[in-house]
Amino acid sequence: MPFLGIDLGTSGLRALLVDDNCQPIGATERYYNVSNPHSGWSEHDPADWITALEGAVEEMRATYSEFADIKGIGVAGHMHGATLLDADGNVLRPCILWNDSRSHKQAAALDQTDQVRALSGNIVFPGFTAPKLEWVRENEPKIFEKTAKVLLPAAYLNYYLTGDYVADMSDSAGTSWLNVGERDWSQTLLEAGHMRRDQMPRLVEGTDAAGELRSDLASKWGLTGTVTVAGGAGDNAAAACGIGALHEGEGFVSLGTSGVLLSARDGYRPDPETAVHTFCHAIPGRWYQMGVMLSATDSLNWFARITEKSPADLTSALGDTLQAPSNVRFLPYLSGERTPHNDSEIRGNFSGLSTATSRDDLTRAVLEGVAFGLRDSFEALIATGAELDQLIAIGGGTKSKYWLQVISTVLGVPVNLLGSGEFGAALGAARLGMVAATKTSPDSVMLTPKFRATITPNTNLKNAFDDAYKAFKMSYPAIKSIT
Ligand code: XUL
Repeated sequence: MPFLGIDLGTSGLRALLVDDNCQPIGATERYYNVSNPHSGWSEHDPADWITALEGAVEEMRATYSEFADIKGIGVAGHMHGATLLDADGNVLRPCILWNDSRSHKQAAALDQTDQVRALSGNIVFPGFTAPKLEWVRENEPKIFEKTAKVLLPAAYLNYYLTGDYVADMSDSAGTSWLNVGERDWSQTLLEAGHMRRDQMPRLVEGTDAAGELRSDLASKWGLTGTVTVAGGAGDNAAAACGIGALHEGEGFVSLGTSGVLLSARDGYRPDPETAVHTFCHAIPGRWYQMGVMLSATDSLNWFARITEKSPADLTSALGDTLQAPSNVRFLPYLSGERTPHNDSEIRGNFSGLSTATSRDDLTRAVLEGVAFGLRDSFEALIATGAELDQLIAIGGGTKSKYWLQVISTVLGVPVNLLGSGEFGAALGAARLGMVAATKTSPDSVMLTPKFRATITPNTNLKNAFDDAYKAFKMSYPAIKSIT
């Protein structure tokens, strides 16, 4: 019995076919463009998601005969995006994405509205969904009037797959319309954002069935049996399902474009003042918390671009042995920052430069600056009672052993590395598809893969990195005062 996981990412869609042990059979990918019509704007055409999905499925059908027997599908999506539909289910405008900052004024106003943080458990960040709708109301009133449904990207694919408007809890938690503790739409939050409950999709848990694959799509894809579509998940919750981070003490550090430090939580303990995100997990009765930094590998990629080197050239030049912290400090706020500052206007900075500063010193400063930003999130998570005694590292940045040593030493915890294979949001989505279709318990499916290696903190350099972190923390107010 094979299952299909779909990861609707910011730069492309990945479809992963797994067998009934959730072992990968094969994957296909399709890419699409983000459009930036104005500075700070970031949009997708939802039609591109469908083209990507159909292309990925067509290739998968042609390559893997097992596809014909799939029994369950799960979708993971980039979070917070606003896909607006009219009463006939037609898309009204391009989807406004998670990294679009046009609605920062609307976000600040909503964030100060009575009860909003208390009910949503989170700061209203400019990237979240509710302020986007406030922006549309103020700037595109005709489109706002016609909006009959607002769907997150994963829920839009659920709609395409099932014909029904259904969203899961983990993704819906990032809208600022959900009462995250009670796992239901909040009348107060909806009213604060000038929205109505009938404009929201039906809510299900990520492991529940959202519905069945539409019969016309099933016959187009050559499928004969019933195919269950799971509630699915936001991409971070799905990645947590992919590496088996379901319980207290289980978490990951993700070094992607953005940096995420995530901790699964057995209970609901929001702490919005720290800019930690508190969201429902894709598993019933569980939550997770995460700190999000906006420029992780993006910082290294930027530095690689301007030095005309590849990120791998820059990091391999440092060798494999961790050195004492650089005398140069780098603030990784190239696109502003979420945790801990909630500041969309702050920008990055190098300080401590001298005539002796080399390119390698700057590379180390960039890697260390990202690690210090992750430590800010780590401290905020620990302050909420999260037990993070070890972490699993995922994402493109994990290719650099040097960087992982910096992160392990700065955070003071072992960092586990996974072997080659599939562990990301697509696997998490496939696992959700399997649980929804077979009613197996999530704990028996969402297992932690074997570790390839564990990187431990460098005890000789721990004090030096602690001192450098203190200096990093003092740099933010200094830079803030001159921006
Ligand atoms: C989480 C967030 C991103 C997106 C894109 O709050 O904004 O991680 O989900 O991946």
